[in-house]
Amino acid sequence: MDRIIEPELMEEEEQGQAYAQADFSGPNKQFLALFAAKFPDFLGNGRVLDLGCGPADILVRFARRYPDCACVGIDGAEAMLAPGRRVIEQEKLSRRITLRCQCLPFAGNEDCFQAILSNSLLHHLHQPQVLWQTISGCTAPGGAILIMDLFRPGSIESARQIVDTYAGNESKILQADFYNSLLAAFRVGEVRSQLQQTGLKLRCEEVSDRHLAIWGTRSW
Ligand SMILES: C[S@@+](CC[C@H](N)C(=O)[O-])C[C@H]1O[C@@H](n2cnc3c(N)ncnc32)[C@H](O)[C@@H]1O
Repeated sequence: MDRIIEPELMEEEEQGQAYAQADFSGPNKQFLALFAAKFPDFLGNGRVLDLGCGPADILVRFARRYPDCACVGIDGAEAMLAPGRRVIEQEKLSRRITLRCQCLPFAGNEDCFQAILSNSLLHHLHQPQVLWQTISGCTAPGGAILIMDLFRPGSIESARQIVDTYAGNESKILQADFYNSLLAAFRVGEVRSQLQQTGLKLRCEEVSDRHLAIWGTRSW
């Protein structure tokens, strides 16, 4: 089954609200657990960048887990950032988490992030190289990189089954977005080719029945 791309940005207000109200605690906790497992020596006192951060739930969890870091979240859709801005204000994290409405690719004039995070952005990108180029330009030497995303199932039927299993109780908007995301996602072999083309020495493996992870430290 070939990849079927979806729009890059999630710009509809209803999309932002549906996404922020949905329960992503499972995958988001898994993201944090993966980071802690892959980078046990991370000091937690540097600058952290989340690419395609959406409502910033992962950054909020990250900032609580590593209380000495300063976080920046970037997303091209204000509709997705708006619910995150409210939570950050309520949680009194405004001095530690900054959200910017900005699209990838962007020139890395600040190549000093000690950790780069990204969850569920890669499958949105029509040109996936923009993610790898951005990471190349923004990671400090020795910086930790963790990307998590869906991978594309073997058939339309499998995609439908995954939506029923994991989003059966969610809104119709969310179910449609999830289905489209599964069809747009890359597989491990495709991601490894992208990494090879860009010269990034990162590992890529499946980490659940629907997610893959890409991780490593900057050694280039
Ligand atoms: C599925 S959401 C994931 C949000 C968040 N990372 C999470 O895990 O909850 C993907 C996000 O990537 C953003 N996005 C897609 N293409 C982008 C681009 N080229 N530049 C910046 N943000 C982008 C979308 O607007 C959307 O908010």
